[in-house]
Amino acid sequence: MPGAIYAEGLVKTFGDVKALDGVDLDVPQGTVLGLLGPNGAGKTTAVRCLTTLLRPDRGRAVVAGFDVLRQPDDVRRSIGLSGQFAAVDEYLTGRENLQMVGRLYQMRAGAAKARAAELLDRFDLADAADRTAKTYSGGMRRRLDLAAALVVSPPVMFMDEPTTGLDPRNRQLLWEVIKQLVSDGTTLLLTTQYLEEADHLAHDIAVVDHGRVIARGTSDELKARTGGERVEVVVHERDHITTAQEVLSGFGKGETTVEQHTRKLTVPVTGGAKLLAEVIRELDARGIEIDDIGLRRPTLDDVFLSLTGHVAEAKAEESETRGQGKKETVG
Ligand SMILES: Nc1ncnc2c1ncn2[C@@H]1O[C@H](COP(=O)(O)OP(=O)(O)OP(=O)(O)O)[C@@H](O)[C@H]1O
Ligand SMILES: [Mg+2]
Repeated sequence: MPGAIYAEGLVKTFGDVKALDGVDLDVPQGTVLGLLGPNGAGKTTAVRCLTTLLRPDRGRAVVAGFDVLRQPDDVRRSIGLSGQFAAVDEYLTGRENLQMVGRLYQMRAGAAKARAAELLDRFDLADAADRTAKTYSGGMRRRLDLAAALVVSPPVMFMDEPTTGLDPRNRQLLWEVIKQLVSDGTTLLLTTQYLEEADHLAHDIAVVDHGRVIARGTSDELKARTGGERVEVVVHERDHITTAQEVLSGFGKGETTVEQHTRKLTVPVTGGAKLLAEVIRELDARGIEIDDIGLRRPTLDDVFLSLTGHVAEAKAEESETRGQGKKETVG
């Protein structure tokens, strides 16, 4: 049985840009799918197709049991959407914005009012509730937009970069709200640039690049695919980098990478803590002073970099040197 969000072969072209190039998705009910991908990968386009805002050129999608192309009204009634660009009416107050959404969804005035008050409270907007939204900060608008998407607690939610621009406290707050929603049975498709967020919230992750899903799985599965443990060493002196590289290469099961400016060397290994102890002894025996050493498992950031970096590399292969300093492109 297809999940609460199901897509097969979605294609969407804008001029000569293939924003979606055959996207398949399947999100079981009550779970969270994290859609990850670099800028321009097609995440927003996918969300817009699934929420009936955009007509795909090809493919099929079923959301909450309704066909997106043939039953768009039913789909719209069953979903909540919070967009990358907040859909807030600037000239209404926060409270009025939320009440208006309730009324649009045919709630009674009293119920819409109560729901608005509850959400304003939950999103820490109670103090600003009666100011027009144009006086709100970016983070406040974003929270108001999210609150608006939750007015009718729909069975399927789409959130396009819900926490971009939120400070850590408000991000945490939203994570709690999302967890609560999902434990109540909501199915959620979430796009995010914060891999920590996907790691934290998503049951499954789909990595999108150039309009295609290039990898999918749980966070742990993706990490395991990216490769196992590695030893990371920061040597105290720049002059010791070459010798340290020799030492590490003797222990590694892959290429040792070097970040010159941080004096950090990284090598993939197997053997865990025991191996780490051996590496330390050997470095010591060669008189190499170290500032830091540790065994590191891949993070979702590593997964993302290795997956999407690979694509970029393939294009630039002739002109680029591989390996060294690649991590410098992050952040
Ligand atoms: N309405 C449009 N007209 C023309 N091109 C578009 C349109 N919408 C999207 N695109 C193009 O389609 C591609 C995918 O865009 P999309 O907004 O889906 O990416 P995204 O993954 O959401 O990126 P971001 O992380 O920056 O939000 C991009 O190359 C974009 O320029
Ligand atoms: Mg986007």
